[in-house]
Amino acid sequence: MQQKIIILDFGSQTTQLIGRRVRELDTFCEILPYNKFPVGDDSVIGVILSGSPYSVHDPEAFKVDLTQFVGKVPVLGICYGAQFISHTLGGRVEKTNSREYGRANLETIDLDNPLFKGFEKGSQVWMSHGDTITAIPDGFQVIGSTKDVQNAAFWCEKPDVNGKSSTCQSIWAVQFHPEVFHTLQGKTLLKNFVVDICGSRQEWSAASFVDTTVAELKEQLGDDRVILGLSGGVDSSVAAVLLNRAIGDRLTCIFVDHGMLRKNEFQQVMDDYRCLGLNVIGVDASEKFFADLAGVTDPEQKRKIIGRDFVEVFNAEAKKIKDARWLGQGTIYPDRIESLNITGKVIKSHHNVGGLPKEMNLKLCEPLKWLFKDEVRRVGRQLGMPEHLITRHPFPGPGLAVRILGDITPEKVRILQDADDIYIRGLREYVDTDGETLYNKIWQAGAILLSTVRSVGVMGDERTYEHPVALRAVTSTDAMTADWAHLPYDFMARVSNEIINKVRGVNRVCYDISSKPPATIEWE
Ligand code: XMP
Repeated sequence: MQQKIIILDFGSQTTQLIGRRVRELDTFCEILPYNKFPVGDDSVIGVILSGSPYSVHDPEAFKVDLTQFVGKVPVLGICYGAQFISHTLGGRVEKTNSREYGRANLETIDLDNPLFKGFEKGSQVWMSHGDTITAIPDGFQVIGSTKDVQNAAFWCEKPDVNGKSSTCQSIWAVQFHPEVFHTLQGKTLLKNFVVDICGSRQEWSAASFVDTTVAELKEQLGDDRVILGLSGGVDSSVAAVLLNRAIGDRLTCIFVDHGMLRKNEFQQVMDDYRCLGLNVIGVDASEKFFADLAGVTDPEQKRKIIGRDFVEVFNAEAKKIKDARWLGQGTIYPDRIESLNITGKVIKSHHNVGGLPKEMNLKLCEPLKWLFKDEVRRVGRQLGMPEHLITRHPFPGPGLAVRILGDITPEKVRILQDADDIYIRGLREYVDTDGETLYNKIWQAGAILLSTVRSVGVMGDERTYEHPVALRAVTSTDAMTADWAHLPYDFMARVSNEIINKVRGVNRVCYDISSKPPATIEWE
């Protein structure tokens, strides 16, 4: 049976990061809402409780029944998780006036405790909390303190569960965040918990995933035919290659060109797909998209039209494949995690490639549905896919349409494609001081055409009155938050020069220095 760690999500921004760290330890994990613990699932070898934006004293704070797992499997509470354990089992959590935020050092630390195996005294940890645990519950012991936080880490070797404490599993609680980069030995702590304490056999790897998934797909699909919408992105491409391994030519892929892809991308990606042996139909539907988008300036409206047209074109093509029973999709785990949306607001309507043609009665097949993005890439490498496909930056479904302010015309798309091409080629070619290309160091980059703005410039002896192009490059781990990338000045100077000199219609280049939040990655 495949072992798994359950991470109960109390709404923290770093819950997904905990999941990724556990997977990096070659251990399968599931992130579930705080109140969805799978009672009776014997494959669970440990539980982690995440942080939360709430205080345990808030009336709306999320609560979980600890008796479902405490004592049965090892438990680790992180931040709010630690406060919740303390508050619920008889300790004290008090509101403080100032948040404790940032670096701290574990000045006292019980190096004999299994959670801290391999730690160094004074190890740096990252704090981010409002409330303070002023008293730990009876039966618990402090195993780590910082200068300001006495109860930074504590444990109970044998928690009292319904009056029984003899043979049960221990419970640990840490006020700091082991999952974040700034907790320097955070990975060691999680390894101690997952591998030594919970007993993970570390069997979750790209190779084992490919073997089991191909076998499962063969079993699940039998002699059936599958249709899959390709976008040129990593997820749908890896899903296609995996399916192709399992069922060969009974997989038909459809790649729709809506006319707003990057320069030459349609042809290049079609060539890549054919080299990979995929059975792929390319559909050039750009005229339809341009016609339907003509004169439309509202960002949401543009997204809706593209989403609708895409489904229409895809469905018309899919219907030609008469005996298809399944729709393959490159959905990955972060798309599906039932995350706790504390604000409940939709910021942008995302159009994801491959709308399900309802009347065709297709069943969904999502071979990557358990993987994080970095795992998808590892699986792609395992499958022998070319590196440029695997390391490709994310690109939005509506393409350059959400990077052109104002209405869309083929001419504007051409201008943006040319500017974007110079920028992206530059990022691929520039090798930074650490030997890595700028392209590989950032999460995502692209150019934006501010076609609703004009400014004056001078070229030779001529006055120009043209549009600015904004360049965007961000670092991120999951696109939920992002920082603008600090690109070298000499690189920006070179790219700006080349764009203004070579792309007719552009006379100014700006660099977007907004992070997300409060901005978003795409401009529309
Ligand atoms: P935002 O702009 O919301 O983008 O910060 C977050 C990530 O999502 C991508 N994105 C999309 N992807 N369909 C997609 O498949 C869409 O409609 C869409 N809109 C934005 C964006 O490129 C970034 O990676």
